[in-house]
Amino acid sequence: MDGKELLKVEGISVSFDTDLGPIEVVDDVSFEIKPGRTLALVGESGCGKSVTASSIMRLLPHPHGRVTRGRISFEGESVLDLPVEEMYRLRGGKISMIFQEPMTALNPVHTAGAQIAEVLDLHRADIAKKAREPEVLEMLKAVEMPSPESRMGNYPFQLSGGMRQRVMIAMALAGHPRLLIADEPTTALDVTVQAQILALIRDLQKKNGMGVLYITHDMGVVAEISDDVVVMYAGQIVETGAVLDVFKNPIHPYTKGLIRSMPLLDSVPKTELPTIHGQVPSPHNYPATCRFANRCPHADESCRANTPALEDFSPGRKVRCFKAGRV
Ligand SMILES: Nc1ncnc2c1ncn2[C@@H]1O[C@H](COP(=O)(O)OP(=O)(O)O)[C@@H](O)[C@H]1O
Ligand SMILES: [Mg+2]
Repeated sequence: MDGKELLKVEGISVSFDTDLGPIEVVDDVSFEIKPGRTLALVGESGCGKSVTASSIMRLLPHPHGRVTRGRISFEGESVLDLPVEEMYRLRGGKISMIFQEPMTALNPVHTAGAQIAEVLDLHRADIAKKAREPEVLEMLKAVEMPSPESRMGNYPFQLSGGMRQRVMIAMALAGHPRLLIADEPTTALDVTVQAQILALIRDLQKKNGMGVLYITHDMGVVAEISDDVVVMYAGQIVETGAVLDVFKNPIHPYTKGLIRSMPLLDSVPKTELPTIHGQVPSPHNYPATCRFANRCPHADESCRANTPALEDFSPGRKVRCFKAGRV
């Protein structure tokens, strides 16, 4: 199905019921991922990236979190309408996910090997029982686990953070997913391990053509791994485009700010990087006007009085800004 979309998210909005009333934390988000491609979802903490991922996986907290509008399709099927049992089959199988903190995904009382074997049990009927252990070992080798033969028998607490992350990635990949959702999987790791894991995801992707939704707050990682970028701010998409276009010519002042605050790998470490002034507003206080206006160096009265729409800027580019192309 080359050229066709693997994942299509169309205009989804997500709300939570809270003690202070309902809040809409994701507003009209759309994007597509084709097989073999990587889309990065980027934005500061609290912008709605993980909630978007949870919506795709149908893992929003029930009943107070829900998708209120829009459609999500995976290989042409409507994810939000799938029966629960079908969803269980998809998760960890055709769609799998890796998280920032592997301890939440790993079972503390099972060995690394047993947890990978369980994924094979559930999602790889093609593998005979006696072939499972060699396959587990292959998976651990594929994620470059040091001493995989002995590490197989280790419990999560006996492994370093980087090793646990590798086990979780091996589990996520063991079911041969068509789509991998990686939610800040390297944030807690040191730079060397981070680079190894990014290289690993790219490698495996080249081999099996899976699509990747890569969530991060780090523009450096975006440049490293993605084909396409979706920038989210305060629950909305503010800019989308191909990665090279976005880096060469960022349009939205928020995207520009994120790129400016990126540490340069080959530069002398600076004591202070330029940061975007101010903070992401709380969903209880999202303004009806431009949500970025109070932090934007270019905002004027009209930005504080009107609501910008996400509009086509150039082929393949969309931007939500009244000043697009003029600042
Ligand atoms: N279970 C929940 N109940 C209420 N609000 C939530 C819940 N989960 C997330 N949120 C809110 O939704 C917004 C988006 O969160 P999230 O998607 O986790 O952000 P990101 O992943 O971009 O850091 C935040 O304001 C967060 O506080
Ligand atoms: Mg998150």
